[in-house]
Amino acid sequence: MKSGNSALIAGASGLVGGECLKLLLASDAYTEVVVLTRRDLGAPARHRKVRQVECDFASFGDVARELRAKHVFCALGTTIRKAGSQAKFREVDFEYPNGIADITLRNGATHFSLVSALGASRASPFFYSRVKGELEHTLRAMGWPSLCFVRPSVIVGERTESRPFERLAEHALRFAPSTWRPVAARDIAAAMVATALRSPPGTTVIESRDIPRS
Ligand SMILES: NC(=O)c1ccc[n+]([C@@H]2O[C@H](COP(=O)([O-])OP(=O)(O)OC[C@H]3O[C@@H](n4cnc5c(N)ncnc54)[C@H](OP(=O)(O)O)[C@@H]3O)[C@@H](O)[C@H]2O)c1
Repeated sequence: MKSGNSALIAGASGLVGGECLKLLLASDAYTEVVVLTRRDLGAPARHRKVRQVECDFASFGDVARELRAKHVFCALGTTIRKAGSQAKFREVDFEYPNGIADITLRNGATHFSLVSALGASRASPFFYSRVKGELEHTLRAMGWPSLCFVRPSVIVGERTESRPFERLAEHALRFAPSTWRPVAARDIAAAMVATALRSPPGTTVIESRDIPRS
């Protein structure tokens, strides 16, 4: 196993990002984990491997020089309801990841891993899926040596906030065909970290049904 890797996580306070953080901190293959957050992460930020970079995401260009790592994990995201408008949703789910990818690639990162979504496509009739598809398309065009898109169905895990629609979908899809079956945040994170450690050249797309279940 390789040692001495560094990682950067955007979205470490979220469900999938939090699972990525746990795995990276537990892994001997990583010696430093940069967490890019808009608020103090609390206890995990005091871990000896963690370097927290706190900023307002609308201006993270100000901390560009601090965003250095070999592998980048992006699990940022909001909902249209939380964001308040489609434009604000697009800012969080497209503009921020795009900006982080641009800066980290220029800073020498070699692998970028994105939590995208089932059905991501620029041609989708659904705004959410179209934004995810546009982001995938833009990242592909950046020239990353190694890129990974994970496209989960409904994500399952312990949330502090209530998301009734997702809870409903989780129950409704429990016995659905594997394409739509809900997937645990920790399994998504494990697939992302495993792929980063292999860093296959080009773009790896992991559909929801292909995420190994624990
Ligand atoms: N939930 C699902 O069922 C589902 C299904 C398929 C795909 N996805 C996609 O998977 C990704 C990860 O999902 P998740 O459920 O793990 O996300 P999550 O738990 O909602 O976490 C989202 C992360 O994004 C950050 N964030 C949100 N708005 C922000 C803003 N305005 N500025 C800076 N940071 C902001 C949050 O930071 P704070 O803690 O500071 O808010 C948090 O770290 C998302 O892109 C989502 O679209 C989700």
